[in-house]
Amino acid sequence: MQIPTVKFKAGNSIPLLGLGTWQLTGKKCIETIKIALEIGYTHIDTAEIYGNQKEIREAIKDFPREKLFLTSKAWIKNLEFEKAIKACKKALAELGTNYLDLYLIHWPNKKIPIENTLKAFAELQKKGLARSIGVSNFTIPHLEEALPKAQELGIEIANNQCEFHPLLYQKKLLDYCKNKEIIFTAYSPLGRGGILKNPVIRNIAEKYKKTPAQICLKWVLQKGAVAIPKASSQLHLQENLPVFNWQLSGQDEKAIDLLNKNQRIIAPFFAEFEGSKGSFLGNFYK
Ligand SMILES: NC(=O)c1ccc[n+]([C@@H]2O[C@H](COP(=O)([O-])OP(=O)(O)OC[C@H]3O[C@@H](n4cnc5c(N)ncnc54)[C@H](OP(=O)(O)O)[C@@H]3O)[C@@H](O)[C@H]2O)c1
Repeated sequence: MQIPTVKFKAGNSIPLLGLGTWQLTGKKCIETIKIALEIGYTHIDTAEIYGNQKEIREAIKDFPREKLFLTSKAWIKNLEFEKAIKACKKALAELGTNYLDLYLIHWPNKKIPIENTLKAFAELQKKGLARSIGVSNFTIPHLEEALPKAQELGIEIANNQCEFHPLLYQKKLLDYCKNKEIIFTAYSPLGRGGILKNPVIRNIAEKYKKTPAQICLKWVLQKGAVAIPKASSQLHLQENLPVFNWQLSGQDEKAIDLLNKNQRIIAPFFAEFEGSKGSFLGNFYK
């Protein structure tokens, strides 16, 4: 099965479905990614902070590089020019590749002027070390600040990767990104598993003879976002793939829209979001 792709405004294309790898480490990470590649995944999402880039290298070493889409992210402490260059080179060495398909600023960091990081990212792109560059966890005000700086440097912010699932339907941010031709990637698209028990999702799943995870992923894709669910069993990996070539009706899509509670799961103390923050995992799924 070939996963459809969407093209960045300038440059390469990103598969609409990828494999998230946060908290996949060690042997389990290698095994999971090998299985994923065998069954049709080609897009792997990682970050220096996940501590699994060496395992990913091991898992992808026999897979044709040109068929892979690899994303990595620079951590908040590595956003000054020299540090960002060094962090990217370290990611490349750990992953055993000459280039990343996408390199992201993992989180905004108001202590470091965004232009310093963007200059480094421009350099990485110019040297071919990152095919496309982008951001993650950027709100509209962060993008408003970054976009003119990127324009001055002659680079495109191709992607914004943010938490997005039925309990956190960030419609304003998604629409803003669409308007600026920034591809939006939904992280934690399954609400880290919690949303799968929701009765509305379960009823819709029954109606379509799909699973709750497939319904959530379909909803994300139907919103025009890329989805990067993490899965660590063959069953889950397989289950998350058949989310193309069928549609949710407008009515069912709307019923899922209405589940939104603006509930963030990922809100670490350094997050620059308005409202809820202070913990990595909220307790509302318990
Ligand atoms: N940029 C950022 O700041 C940021 C932040 C968070 C996440 N991310 C990225 O986004 C990826 C995905 O987000 P996430 O890992 O937070 O959460 P998620 O993908 O929403 O949920 C992962 C959880 O769902 C389970 N799961 C997967 N498929 C399932 C299925 N078909 N049925 C039932 N359960 C299923 C997984 O279990 P098993 O493992 O047992 O299969 C795991 O417990 C991350 O791995 C990471 O790559 C980025």
